[in-house]
Parts: sequence; structure tokens; C-alpha cells
Amino acid sequence: MAKRDHFGSKIGFVLAAAGSAIGLGAIWKFPYMAGTNGGSVFVLLFILSTLLIGLPILLAEFIIGRKGQADAVTGFKNLSPGKPWFLIGWSGFFFSMIILSFYSVVGGWILSYLVRAITFSMNGTSETFYEDLFNNVISNPWEVIIGQGAFIFLTIWIVSGGIKGGIEKASKWMMPLLLIFFLVLAVRSLTLEGAMEGVKFLFVPDWSYFTWETALLALGQAFFTLSVGVSGMITYASYLPKETRLGNSALSVSFLNIGISIMAGLVIFPAVFALGFSPDAGPGLAFIILPAVFEQIIFGQFFLILFFVLLLFATLTSSISMLEIVVSIGIKSKYERRKKAAWVYGFLIFLIGIPSALSFGMLSETHILGMSIFDFADFFTSSFGLPLGALFISLFAGYVLTKSELQNDLKVSQFLLNTWRFIVRFAAPIAIIIVFIQGVMKLFI
Ligand code: PHE
Repeated sequence: MAKRDHFGSKIGFVLAAAGSAIGLGAIWKFPYMAGTNGGSVFVLLFILSTLLIGLPILLAEFIIGRKGQADAVTGFKNLSPGKPWFLIGWSGFFFSMIILSFYSVVGGWILSYLVRAITFSMNGTSETFYEDLFNNVISNPWEVIIGQGAFIFLTIWIVSGGIKGGIEKASKWMMPLLLIFFLVLAVRSLTLEGAMEGVKFLFVPDWSYFTWETALLALGQAFFTLSVGVSGMITYASYLPKETRLGNSALSVSFLNIGISIMAGLVIFPAVFALGFSPDAGPGLAFIILPAVFEQIIFGQFFLILFFVLLLFATLTSSISMLEIVVSIGIKSKYERRKKAAWVYGFLIFLIGIPSALSFGMLSETHILGMSIFDFADFFTSSFGLPLGALFISLFAGYVLTKSELQNDLKVSQFLLNTWRFIVRFAAPIAIIIVFIQGVMKLFI
């Protein structure tokens, strides 16, 4: 058996974890979820869910992963032999595949936009240019399937190369560059005439949206952006040597995530209002608004290319973490099988994703529980799979790991340790159960 890979440096791990977290969740999904769920109230509930529930469970995943030193299924078996906790790993395996199946559809849209940007064919020639463009892209069956396939191909290619080479190197400079881009775009968007409406939409609460449904969606969004609930962070942390300070890493990832989400909101919503678009455009929001903001910038057409390259990268650093969960469980530490497994599972995920890819065109009449196939795949994972996984991970960290071993692992003050344990033992599980039951009842009954 080949020797197990480890991250070469601490910063390598933080970047990889942040890379997994930051992706379409913050940049594409957060704005449109906020846009369709009343803006500010969703934002508030998202921040609360991230800090009070997501962050402690993210830390739990880090601890469990580093202790287990193996893929999620084997890791849970190592830590709690003979008990059914390893099923958490299998749930992550299953839900990661479903998430990646629709995530790669959006990855495909990005590739489509990138090709158009490179050929300079993204010049708003009419009022509805960007809306029409988006609708054309997502409803063309060949384009979406080829795009989705190409995106999965890239994901497989990186994952089959092993953990260090692929993930670590690229994260180091692409992520900061993306951040700078967002800062510049936010400034441009905020200085458009009428931009304040967008800021109000994001930060001045309209309490009529304060409902259980919004709470469930915000909680799901928090887990989704943190990559929590499918053992993704367990998988990454299993490649960690013993010394890393996990608490700091969890804090950095959570704050980065909130920061990028809010920044994406500050790019998109001021422009939505200033340029006369509608905030509840759904999954197309970022794809319609971002090119329109670039139009307002000098050399916008060139920057748009660079932007889509960076966005593609951010999306890939997340998609590789999803495939990594699946592959690591699939090969069960037999490293020589890694390449083949990446191809086999990647192809399977591609097939699973085809109905989602077609759900804006050929299959637009097909609905499950009143949602399109794409929306259902998203809802089923974000509002069901992730909270379920997060709940059991929290319980595992709270009730199976003992206080003294945690003390050893975390090296933090008694007070912090006790607070964290209180959250993972009681507060987080109870909150997840209540929000889940109430949210689902309100949505379907
Ligand atoms: N956190 C990623 C994003 O926001 C999505 C993701 C979810 C990645 C679950 C891994 C596991 O884009």
C-alpha cells in the first residue's frame, strides 16, 4: 500500500479547506437565495447559522478527520469500531455525488460563459441581452451537457493527480486574486446611481420574511458554503499531520466565507437595483448581473475573461473536494486505485447530473414536489442531506469523543472547549432538528 499523502504545509491545508468552502455557494447561490428570500432576513439568518451552528460543526469535522486519518467511512470505523457511525461517511458519499451532479451543471455554464468572453461575444446590445443569453445557454441541451461533461472532466483530471500537486499549488495565488476582483467590482457596483437600494435590500430587514422556511434555507446555505455535512472537511483534515491548530483554521474558513458571500451580495444587489433588474431572478442572477457590471468598467471585456477564469477555479477547488470525498471512500486507502476510481465515479456523477442539466430546457416540464429537477437536487441535498449529516457529526463529536482527548486535540482554554462542547452536544442538534422539522412542515403541509 502506498504511503498516505499529507499536506505539505499548514497554509496548504487552510487554503484547500477554504478552497472547498468558497465556490459557487458564496458567489452564485448566496445572492440568488438572498434575492428570492427577502434579502436582509436571509442574510442575517445565514450569518447566525454560519457562526453558531456551521462553525462549531466545521471544527468537529476537522477534529474527526485528523483523528481518523482515513477516508470518512474508515475514519469513523477507526474511531468507533463496531458502531453504526460510519454511516455518516456513506451519507456524505451519496450526497456529495448528488451535489456534484448539479454543481457541475453550473460549472458547465461557467465554461460556456468563459468561451463567450474569450471570443468577445458578450457585449450587451439590448436591454434584455444578458437575460436572453442566460436563457439560451441553459436551455440548449448540447451546450449544457457538453459544458457539464467538460467541467467534470477537469475535476476528475485534478483529483486523479493526487492531493498535493493538484490542490495545494493552485490555491495559493488564485484565491487572493479572486478576492481583489470582488473588492473592485463591489466598489464599481456601489458607485452606480441608485445603488443604495441594493444595500438596503441586503441589510435593512423586512421581517415578513422571518419564517421557518427562510431559516431552513439559510441553515442549508450555511452548511453548503462551509462544505459541512458530507464529511468533506473530515476527508481533507484526514490528510493533516497532528500539529495544526484546527480552531484557527475553522474560524478563518467561516469568516472568509461570510466575507465573500456578503461581498458577492454587494457586487450583485446594488447593480440589480441600479440597472433595473429583479432580485428574484433565481439561479441566473449572478450570470445576468455580473457581466452587466463588467460593462460599466473600463477594459471590462478583458477583465470579464480573467474573472470567469478565477470563478472557474474557485468552482473547481470546491468540486474536487466533493469528488475527493467519493473517491477516498470508494478506494478505501488503496491508493493505486485512485485514478481509476476518479474516472468511474466522475462518469457516474456526470450521468446523474444530466437530468439537472436538462431541467431548464428539454425537461423543464418535469417537476418533483413542485420543483424543477435541478432545484429539487439542490433542495434535497442542501435542506435535507447536509443538515442530516451535520446533525450526526455534531452528535458524534459531542458524545463519542471524550473531553480529555478533545483537550489534547484542541489545546484551547477550558471555557472555549466547554462552549464548543455545549454547542455540539445540545444547541446545534436541537436547532437543526427544530428548524428542519418546522421548515419542512411549512414547505409541504
Ligand atoms: N462549499 C462549496 C461551495 O460553496 C460546495 C460544497 C458543498 C463543497 C459540500 C463540498 C462539499 O461552493
